[in-house]
Amino acid sequence: MSTDAIVLLKADHARVRKLFAQFQEAGKAATKTKGAIVDKILEELTVHTYLENEVMYPRVQQLLPALEEDVLESYEEHHVADVLCFELAAMYADDERFDAKTTVLIESVRHHIDEEENDWFPKVREALGRKTLQEIGAEMVELRKTAPRKPRQPSVLKKAIDAVIR
Ligand SMILES: [Fe+2]
Ligand SMILES: [Fe+2]
Repeated sequence: MSTDAIVLLKADHARVRKLFAQFQEAGKAATKTKGAIVDKILEELTVHTYLENEVMYPRVQQLLPALEEDVLESYEEHHVADVLCFELAAMYADDERFDAKTTVLIESVRHHIDEEENDWFPKVREALGRKTLQEIGAEMVELRKTAPRKPRQPSVLKKAIDAVIR
């Protein structure tokens, strides 16, 4: 199995996009279904964001200083998504703001994923090459085993608090 970091991250993106589509296709009254889909979205995003924050972004920052601005913008976009994820995790699916909040999460994450895939992943692939990307990917495969899976777990929450008070 390839451990190419970009291949792995794109596979995560594809799973998230599929869940987004399922949420949007669920009917207005399908509260239970939508609640279950959002649970899965939160889990996927928590793991994915963690792997990017802990491995992919720091490596890119270190190896490709020219991409510093892209990376910093991406951290901020993750932070916005994290906040929405924390709030959704504490909400019931029949809350009147549940669908609206999920829709804003979907829109902002889609924008973020598009930017990663269309803009900075190609630059990273060109600059780092296959071998380095496979090493970074192998690190992510390893870290995935112990990655937090729920937005409320302290390691993730702490990051958000640090980002706010820093
Ligand atoms: Fe990201
Ligand atoms: Fe991503």
